[in-house]
Amino acid sequence: MAGSMLSFPRGFLWGTASAGYQVEGGNTTSDWTDWENEPGRIEAGQKSGRACDWWAGERWKEDFDKAAADGHRTHRLSVEWSRIEPEPGTWDMDALDHYRRMIVGLRDRGMEPMVTLHHFVNPRWVTERQAWESPAIVPLFEAYTRKVVSALKDHVTIWCTINEPNVFMLQGWVGGIFPPGKKKLGLAMEVARNILRAHAACYRAIHDMQPDAQVGLPVHFRPITAARPRALDRWAARKQFETFSTVFPDAIRTGRIRGIFGSTAVPEAKGTMDWFGLNYYTADVVTFDLRKPGELFGSRAFPPGAEVDEAGVYASYPQGLAWSLEWARRTLGLPIYITENGFGDNADTMRPRYILSHLREVWRHIQAGGDVRGYYHWSLIDNFEWERAWTHRFGLYAMDIESLVRTPRKSARLFAEICKADGISAETVSRYAPELMEGFFEDKA
Ligand code: GAL
Repeated sequence: MAGSMLSFPRGFLWGTASAGYQVEGGNTTSDWTDWENEPGRIEAGQKSGRACDWWAGERWKEDFDKAAADGHRTHRLSVEWSRIEPEPGTWDMDALDHYRRMIVGLRDRGMEPMVTLHHFVNPRWVTERQAWESPAIVPLFEAYTRKVVSALKDHVTIWCTINEPNVFMLQGWVGGIFPPGKKKLGLAMEVARNILRAHAACYRAIHDMQPDAQVGLPVHFRPITAARPRALDRWAARKQFETFSTVFPDAIRTGRIRGIFGSTAVPEAKGTMDWFGLNYYTADVVTFDLRKPGELFGSRAFPPGAEVDEAGVYASYPQGLAWSLEWARRTLGLPIYITENGFGDNADTMRPRYILSHLREVWRHIQAGGDVRGYYHWSLIDNFEWERAWTHRFGLYAMDIESLVRTPRKSARLFAEICKADGISAETVSRYAPELMEGFFEDKA
């Protein structure tokens, strides 16, 4: 197989993804600022602190330099509503200018920006007003969207509205892991509806101000299948899968939220997605279990034999990415960006395998006619991983949280080779994950 190469289409967007709160540091105006300071919320009581110092120290510059030198063609970042509108109706033009400089900084380095308007974090006042729990959020989110778009539209074409609405809603209102820390299923359904309304208003505002914008929604997508070929296992797997993975894209396709307790109309959401953002990390198998009513009677486990990351949170299951891409193609029929994919592996012993085996599935999907436009690895650099803080490391670059020194992991070099070659060569596979060589290129014509 020497000389073999899995080539990607010309113009394919290779890059990484990040989110404001996770990398900026020093945020004093958000709900997460308060959340972090509540005892017991964050693993080992860790803090975001200076994070990767993209704000005060502007260390985005050195990180974007690294990304550009590694051949990345894009970066997905998020702007923080809490910095831009720290008090209701008070707009911080310096904060907007900071984001403008970062985005121009990407362009100057030859990278296409993808900008997310909301990535889990809210201004403190939004959460204090419980704004996501009522339609009051819609005009607030639209006003914020309009401010951001008018400041950045000369430099940004690809927008994400609300990152992982499913995770935002479930962690905040069902699991109680993110602010506001509630565990109220009925309220969560109302929040889902308001998220869809806010997303729809945001989608329309962007198009109104920038007709050629490409607006998408990234969903945390987790294939969940039956552990055994039994009707009850299948039932529990389907319920979990639909509740977690498909409820939002399905509502945008149909204009209805089809939840476990029936269906609700959200007609304004129908058709408000130009492309689908797939955040894929892992998959589950489910066994029917009467003791788990809170989990829709399904006991979850990772697919047998899949390699599990060091925090035990994600398992490497590339077939799940293939399956997710196929689901999106069949069900939505929209262009796809893989807006996140990655593995928490501080030692970087498993990540090279993870990257290569997942990208192989992307290549196969494209070969079979799928329209995948880009791949954003999560993440460029170790960052504040929400409730797991610094205990779960996703960076192509490792970062020492005291000195802020960045060090390339082997995976940074691997990903750079792939970006620069616009594909995966046999030589690369044999150097970074020789154990994958057998069969890796078998589909290559
Ligand atoms: C996603 C989230 C990211 C990042 C990632 C890794 O759900 O959008 O912000 O934390 O998980 O776990």
